[in-house]
Amino acid sequence: MNPTLSELEAKARRPAAAFGGDAHIVCDNLVRIYKTEGVEVVALQGLDLVIDKGELVAIVGASGSGKSTLLNVLSGLDVPTAGVARVAGMDLLSMSAKDRLRYRRSVVGFIWQQTARNLLPYLTARENVELPMRLAGTPRKGRALELLELLGVASCAGRRTPEMSGGEQQRVAIAVALANSPQLILADEPTGELDSETSEQVFDALRKANRELGVTVTIVTHDPLVSEQVDRTVGIRDGRTSSETLRREGAEGQIIAEEYAVLDRVGRLQLPRDFMNALEMERRVRLELESDHIGVWPAREEPSND
Ligand SMILES: Nc1ncnc2c1ncn2[C@@H]1O[C@H](COP(=O)(O)OP(=O)(O)O)[C@@H](O)[C@H]1O
Ligand SMILES: [Mg+2]
Repeated sequence: MNPTLSELEAKARRPAAAFGGDAHIVCDNLVRIYKTEGVEVVALQGLDLVIDKGELVAIVGASGSGKSTLLNVLSGLDVPTAGVARVAGMDLLSMSAKDRLRYRRSVVGFIWQQTARNLLPYLTARENVELPMRLAGTPRKGRALELLELLGVASCAGRRTPEMSGGEQQRVAIAVALANSPQLILADEPTGELDSETSEQVFDALRKANRELGVTVTIVTHDPLVSEQVDRTVGIRDGRTSSETLRREGAEGQIIAEEYAVLDRVGRLQLPRDFMNALEMERRVRLELESDHIGVWPAREEPSND
């Protein structure tokens, strides 16, 4: 039976289900162009990313691939040029200055790579954790110590930054980021200045925040071992998400990490550079649909016209 005109009108009025639905973090076709002295740099070139509430996700990629740009957008520090960026239902492109301030104070917590940037050196660890609560006007007695304890740095409560190791400072920084009970923690190469053993403790602290407080955690890192420690690793190349590694437990309890290429909504896919090089693929490939997979071949030699 044909639909009636009013049924069609009702259907047209219904908004199409948005990309990412009600996921905690949704980036849809995100673009960020920097203009400096007449030169344009496209740092994000239509990046898609969906992260659910309570996920612990690592973002990896070469230097210059757009990782920090992405985190700056998600933290509300930077506004993208185009696309959609939505966190906890809030639209990061159109939010008012007042909402942005509230967002940065209470919805999201941020940890920088440079340990010195995360803490005020003239305050003790405990005072550093109390500061964001005081700024938000919601001091909570005992909260700072609780957080320092959870992250294994209670012994640093009375110390200032020069009296703490780099790893201790970063764990205190996580406590600062958690002070106002954010829904989301973002960390940009939090272990970039640390050795591997200390890095492990910082990752442990982030995992603890995720598991015990239910906070969504997104970590940018170039530590290749991190994908063994998180549920999902998203690879970024040239300002786009290009691969995902999913970690799961096998039948015998062993950890299996499987890498996938990311397919965007219109069907675009990035082939790994080394695969393309191995078969000298350039510009054009031939595709063939098989019953359970798609074959990709280098283009045939073009017959010359003369
Ligand atoms: N403030 C800026 N002004 C101009 N170009 C920038 C700025 N920030 C980053 N870029 C450029 O954008 C690209 C992505 O940078 P970035 O997000 O910092 O990458 P990553 O964190 O992955 O190393 C790089 O080419 C970088 O030079
Ligand atoms: Mg960076």
